[in-house]
Amino acid sequence: MKPSRLKSPALVALLSQILAVPVVFVLRYFASELFSIQLGLFQSAFLQGTIAAGVGQFFHLPRWWLLINFSFFPLLAGLNTATLPRSGFLIGFILLLLLNWNSFKERVPLYLTGKETNRKLVEFLSADQANFTFVDLGSGLASTLCFLASEFPSAKFEGVETAPIVFLLSWFRCLFRANCKIRYQSLWKVNLAQYNYVYCFLSPEPMPKIWNKAKSEMLKGSVLISNTFTVPGHPPDTIIEMHDWRSSKLCIWKL
Ligand SMILES: C[S@@+](CC[C@H](N)C(=O)[O-])C[C@H]1O[C@@H](n2cnc3c(N)ncnc32)[C@H](O)[C@@H]1O
Repeated sequence: MKPSRLKSPALVALLSQILAVPVVFVLRYFASELFSIQLGLFQSAFLQGTIAAGVGQFFHLPRWWLLINFSFFPLLAGLNTATLPRSGFLIGFILLLLLNWNSFKERVPLYLTGKETNRKLVEFLSADQANFTFVDLGSGLASTLCFLASEFPSAKFEGVETAPIVFLLSWFRCLFRANCKIRYQSLWKVNLAQYNYVYCFLSPEPMPKIWNKAKSEMLKGSVLISNTFTVPGHPPDTIIEMHDWRSSKLCIWKL
């Protein structure tokens, strides 16, 4: 199965786990009967995770789903036997909070622009001169910016991000790139007049406010691109559909 054909990675991940269960049972049986090895809970859980991740790899699951598949049963076993320290839950909660800092106030969680969308962005930007300026409002892990920065070495890329851990990771990722910088700054404080292209992948919630900001600050001829989320009452000039499992699309307005 081609990666781009995967409509629902969650279902494929579940299928991989289900397929792994009988394999684990058979392996446990043979280990016991042929070699007198009794696999314990954690060993079985790791075996289950490894096989599920292997099946997921066969189906071209994205890497983070392979990690989820691998770690799901061992984590469940850990919780079940309560061998995880209690502070683990608190640390996990704080990590999630620092990653998804903007879920609560801005109603924008962390999810990333897909590879196909990045490629379409490259195609779209290729029509322009080489030395344009581009900002990603809420730049996440800077995956899109890094990809574009490599493709367009003469262009200037910037990102702003306020989720603490996400900012640190992305800032470090761009540290040694000459044409790509990340700032710890709210997207509402960015002066959009500096950029030829303003990109965002947020949620339906802030889009009307983003539109008003773009209309009042962006210069004539510059371009607003929103991944997937439209602005009520203002249809995009161009829509580039991705046909991926998220039904992503690039919504493009020429100001
Ligand atoms: C859906 S993610 C998109 C990440 C990245 N642009 C991409 O396409 O891969 C949205 C990001 O916007 C960030 N964000 C939300 N509100 C923000 C704000 N007011 N200022 C800066 N970043 C913000 C979130 O923390 C999150 O990392």
